[in-house]
Amino acid sequence: MQRQYAFFILLLSILISCKPTMSQMSSIDDKVDQLLQKMTLEEKIGQMNQYSSFYDITGPAPKDGSAKTRYDQVKSGQVGSMLNVLGTEQIRKLQQIAVEESRLGIPLIFGYDVIHGYKTLTPIPLAETASWDLEAIEMSARNAAKEAAAAGINWTFAPMVDISRDARWGRVMEGAGEDTYLGCRVAEARVRGFQGDDLNSTSSIAATAKHFAGYGFAESGKDYNTADVGLSTLYNVILPPFKAAMDAGVRTFMNSFNELNGIPATGDVFLQRDILKGEWGFDGFVVSDWGSITEMQDHGYAANGREASKLAAIAGSDMDMESSLYVEHLKDLVESGDVDETLINDAARRILKVKYELGLFDDPYKYCDASREKSIIGNDEMLAGSLEMALKSIVLLKNENGVLPLAKSGKNIAVIGQLANDKNSPLGNWRGHVDANTAISVLEGLQSHSTNTYTYEQGVKLFDGEESFIRHINVNTTDDSGIDEAVAAAKGSDVVIMVLGEHGYMSGEGRSRANINLPGFQQELLERVHSVNENIILVLMNGRPLALDWADKNINTIVEAWHLGSRSGDAIAQVLFGDYNPSGKLPVTFPRDVNQVPLYYNYKNTGRPGPIEMVFWSHYSDQSNDPLYPFGYGLSYTTFEYSNLNVAESSDGLRVSVTLSNTGKYTGEEVVQCYIRDKFASVTRPVKELKGFKKLGLEAGESQEVVINLSKADLSFYNNQGKLIFEPGEFEIMVGGNSADVLVETIEMK
Ligand code: GLC
Repeated sequence: MQRQYAFFILLLSILISCKPTMSQMSSIDDKVDQLLQKMTLEEKIGQMNQYSSFYDITGPAPKDGSAKTRYDQVKSGQVGSMLNVLGTEQIRKLQQIAVEESRLGIPLIFGYDVIHGYKTLTPIPLAETASWDLEAIEMSARNAAKEAAAAGINWTFAPMVDISRDARWGRVMEGAGEDTYLGCRVAEARVRGFQGDDLNSTSSIAATAKHFAGYGFAESGKDYNTADVGLSTLYNVILPPFKAAMDAGVRTFMNSFNELNGIPATGDVFLQRDILKGEWGFDGFVVSDWGSITEMQDHGYAANGREASKLAAIAGSDMDMESSLYVEHLKDLVESGDVDETLINDAARRILKVKYELGLFDDPYKYCDASREKSIIGNDEMLAGSLEMALKSIVLLKNENGVLPLAKSGKNIAVIGQLANDKNSPLGNWRGHVDANTAISVLEGLQSHSTNTYTYEQGVKLFDGEESFIRHINVNTTDDSGIDEAVAAAKGSDVVIMVLGEHGYMSGEGRSRANINLPGFQQELLERVHSVNENIILVLMNGRPLALDWADKNINTIVEAWHLGSRSGDAIAQVLFGDYNPSGKLPVTFPRDVNQVPLYYNYKNTGRPGPIEMVFWSHYSDQSNDPLYPFGYGLSYTTFEYSNLNVAESSDGLRVSVTLSNTGKYTGEEVVQCYIRDKFASVTRPVKELKGFKKLGLEAGESQEVVINLSKADLSFYNNQGKLIFEPGEFEIMVGGNSADVLVETIEMK
């Protein structure tokens, strides 16, 4: 017996040592191919079909109506994905139907808009970008992924990487601002954060680069409007953040509602086949935006739903979000020869591949752990992360007379403005699954971080009626009662903190504004309070740049606090009291007036840059060309000085060095920004372009050499054939703490 046992152990150890390595196990591609061979045409088309949550499956499954049809389609394998189904209980129930009741048991992939947090909200993406802290931005996305994955979500429709130069566009809040280089770095950080190191992990979710492409260039800043851009803008401004997201490993793209140069993006072969899947070699899948396939009829590009399905499938839109047109028409289109089945196979393959990468075939219920959901969502780690991101996102715009930091005791302070006591607006738009009215308000933050005496007055009502995700906020433009009470409170106060700006739902999708002033009676309120007490600290709560010319001229202290998410009031208080020295820098230009828009820092010089005595140069007769606050601008409680700019050729480009000195009284962080100008080129180049930055902290009195290395690629540009080229010649290299105040050196590049 003993000898047999020994032989068995020997044999077992030999077998184990021969276990196939990972690479010998059939790869995901092999598994996908094997599965595809078993699938019917309808089942492959089913993978290309995505529905939004159509019923509450915690209750009995619907017995009638479209929900019943859709429920049956899940059972028959004609649904590949669902969105807006939330929580492990609901998701598990739907997954069970797909996995245990359909013929092949292919798991669904569950998507959701986790834009700046799932349940614990961080600042809106534009605000996070204002931190210029890529590690913090990555961590913010990481936490959002952990919470969303704990709730059963496998896939987020983020990051939105649309560059925009138009403050009127509501969705400027959702992206990384006006600059391509910063947009690329933030896109990479967010993709890394959402997807983590291992997409198979239950704390990772697939990410989406959206909206491909040109959505942020909607004419006149009107959402969904026509985008018509030249190839140079397309290649040099719009596309790079998408390419950066892809190179960072993003697994899905979402196309955009707009037409680009006459072709709806959803049906654009040039964008999705030639560039994305062809030249770039993207191997994930493209989901349409909500109904964008059917909307090609409204665009005047498809005569009917069948035509729209054909055009979208041929153009490489792999999954149909909520048009229901693929399940309706694709089978017939294939059988009639209008759409080649290879396109269906390719789309289904891409979708199945991502599902395999997420581990959904190994364990379709891996994201449905109710105990993990309970322990992760809203926990201290999430709340601490939200506060840290909020602190870093705040931008100090003005602090004359050094009113800030504020004392924590002994002061009699009037707090004025409905937004000061608002626990909802700070959550911003695209607020995931957060409960309404759960943000820490400014008033709460002030009270919990200090012992000053506070008197709150609403001043004026900013909006009437209920707050709505699907309707415009009804801004109050008729009732200015309350100003007198606010003025009275301000009169006797040492300091007045005024919180003014936009409701959280005044920016975001479908919320473009033709006017970007302070909405409602807030400007009147500000001026009336100022008339009795000039010691005002203006805290802005907004989702886009606002036109603040009067405020800049008359208010000594202005803080840009955006919509900062769940810990908003804590972060604002900690900055006002100096517990945190503000370090944010604007990712968007703030115009003086909406009529300057689109206004951005990296503009072209034109043939008549002026200024000259006569009128014949590029300018307005009634407004400056200059912004109120430039891209990259932000102050600190301390001061920084730049000196010794040195530019030298390196093996691969340029070595740029500068001495940064903290010349103030506080430890603080600064974002050292490096811009270039390619003076003469075969395609005109902007007067300056951000090509590198470093955020670093210095003690009061400390100096440090900061080095930024620029590669030849950083000095290159895309020509109108989409080719990245470097052209020797004269370059200006600029370094500073914002895009306007820079040291300049010129160098001749060979
Ligand atoms: C919306 C948005 C898109 C979002 C999708 C799902 O219309 O344009 O960004 O991801 O529908 O909610």
